[in-house]
This record gives sequence, structure tokens and C-alpha cells, in this order.
Amino acid sequence: MSDIQQLPFSQSCENNKQAILPQLQSLFSTTKRVLEVGSGTGQHAVYFAKHLPQLIWLPSDQVQYIEPLSLRIELEGSNNIAQPIALEVTQPWSLDPNAVDAIFSANTLHIMSETMVEAFFDGVKQHLERNGLLCIYGPFNYNNQYTSDSNRQFDIWLKHRNVNSGIREFEWVRELAHSASLNLMSDIDMPANNRLLSFKKT
Ligand SMILES: C[S@@+](CC[C@H](N)C(=O)[O-])C[C@H]1O[C@@H](n2cnc3c(N)ncnc32)[C@H](O)[C@@H]1O
Repeated sequence: MSDIQQLPFSQSCENNKQAILPQLQSLFSTTKRVLEVGSGTGQHAVYFAKHLPQLIWLPSDQVQYIEPLSLRIELEGSNNIAQPIALEVTQPWSLDPNAVDAIFSANTLHIMSETMVEAFFDGVKQHLERNGLLCIYGPFNYNNQYTSDSNRQFDIWLKHRNVNSGIREFEWVRELAHSASLNLMSDIDMPANNRLLSFKKT
């Protein structure tokens, strides 16, 4: 496989990347090194790295996604994208403690099981340096309520596909973050009933 057209493709990445970029440009204005957890197709990685040339973008995903992810980066990536690393949140992360000053993850917490989400925050606690930022993009519920009918339908679809998946409660995520020494900085309303949460490590 050496053709971009043959690589895995996500239409939702194409739809949301332009709305996410200005938020990251503001949040990551002084960031030097970002770890992305669950990079998937790599479309976000190549787009954000290209438009945030002052920082290094380190993509990651579960080992089975690394080959196509590496290929996209080879074909489309700017020179500030690092070689993707295999990262399964429930296993030790192959990164030094405090290795990055930001972590970004899009559309992952509702795919992961609750145990995986807890492991995600444990990993963030270990590998994000003090004063570092965590940015999480995706749908969330508030006060046990869906924010839209489309999110309710999406949640049914997710759970049908995998009983352990599901849209996460904002309040639970904020609590996990707090336990990982992360304080909520902003909760930004995004198109299509998504949110961009940002936390700062104390
Ligand atoms: C819906 S995709 C999102 C991909 C990309 N971030 C995007 O926005 O299009 C969910 C991603 O989470 C990753 N993921 C799920 N469970 C994971 C785990 N336990 N550890 C690491 N990554 C995981 C999947 O491999 C997949 O790439």
C-alpha cells in the first residue's frame, strides 16, 4: 500500500479538523511536544502538525493501526511529526515520565471501556509534565442527559457494536481528571454536538 487513496479514511476527521484547529492554535500556543492518543487514520495528526509548526506532534495508537498510520505520515506528514508509537492505554506507555507538555485525544473515550478510560487518565498523570495540557475532543453527556437526539442514537449504536463503549459522563471524566492532578480549564462547544475539554496539570 503506497497510495493515499488506499489508506483508512475518516470523513468525521475531515468534517471536524477545521473547527478544532483554531482551538488548538490557542491552547497549544506555547506547547513544544504533543502526544496524540488514538490517532486512528492519522488525518488529524498530519493536519494539526502542519498548522502547528512550532511543536512536535507524536501520534500513537494500538499496535494494529501503526502500519497504515505510519504510511499516511510518510506520504502526507510534515517534518514536525514524530514516528508513531504503539500505545495501548491499559499497558505501560513507551514514553518517559513527564515526556510531553500536551496530550490530545479525539473521539476515543466513548470507544474505550470505562476501565480503559481510567487507564488513560493514569497514563496522562504519569507522562504529562507539570503545567501540561490535556485536550479531549468528542461527545459527552451532562447530568446524565444526552445533549442531542443524534448523540442518543450514536450511543445506542456504540453499545450495540461493543457493550463496553458509550458516551461518557462529563462529570465522571472531570472527576478522573481531578484524581490525575488535572484541573478543568475550558469546555468548548463544538459543531455536531461535540465538546473540546481542556485540563491543566498542577
Ligand atoms: C473512533 S477512533 C478515533 C480516531 C481519531 N482520533 C479520530 O478522531 O478520527 C478511536 C481510536 O481510539 C483507539 N483506541 C481504542 N481503545 C484504545 C486503547 N485501549 N488504547 C489506545 N487506543 C485505543 C482506537 O484504536 C482508535 O484509533
